Amino acid sequence: MQFGLFEDKPHSYASLDELIDAMMNMTDDPLYPAGTNMVICRGNPEAKLMIIGEAPGPRENELGKPFVGRSGKLLDQILGAVNLDLDKDVFISNSVFRMPPGEAGKNFRKPNNEEIEYYKPYLLEIIRLVDPAIMLLTGNVATQSLLGQTGITKLRGQWFDWNGRHVMPIFHPAYLLRNPSRKPGGPKALTWQDIQEARRKLDELTANG
Ligand code: URA
Ligand code: URA
Repeated sequence: MQFGLFEDKPHSYASLDELIDAMMNMTDDPLYPAGTNMVICRGNPEAKLMIIGEAPGPRENELGKPFVGRSGKLLDQILGAVNLDLDKDVFISNSVFRMPPGEAGKNFRKPNNEEIEYYKPYLLEIIRLVDPAIMLLTGNVATQSLLGQTGITKLRGQWFDWNGRHVMPIFHPAYLLRNPSRKPGGPKALTWQDIQEARRKLDELTANG
């Protein structure tokens, strides 16, 4: 499968700090005219586990960090359940780096295909510089960006080999907030299963150096 690692944008950067600096000064991206803030990443850039979300929401736009609103709190809990600390054991970023402004009384919307494609080379560059062994893709947007597929209900919980990295789509925490049932086979129970499997894989890779 072709994952499009070789787009000509952006140029490669020597360090994550350099890339972040360039992104913070970006003015030619499709969401720049919206006037929302550039929100790039947080967590430990040395972590083996990277989580890739969709796009910043209002809280993230305000604070300039990914997953610091309600979805982020739930993500903290999901990771905490398998003893992973979001600031220590995980590096976290998004597929789109500015909040897409909402229309019709909503303060934000889902990113569109043009936005996902535009920001993808930057996501690829972050991945290259952070070099995670495992990546969890939360929801359809991240899965579309990286694997070129959607259909999270079918894809979640499976490992994909993405350029030598272990990649698993999981449900987006915002989806779990909308579907909070804990019944067996429901999205929360399945996510619980998926995070345990991710932890197992992480331990396996750590044990093997
Ligand atoms: N949802 C996301 O996908 N990313 C964030 O940063 C916040 C909410
Ligand atoms: N749609 C998404 O984008 N993510 C989910 O987790 C579920 C539905």
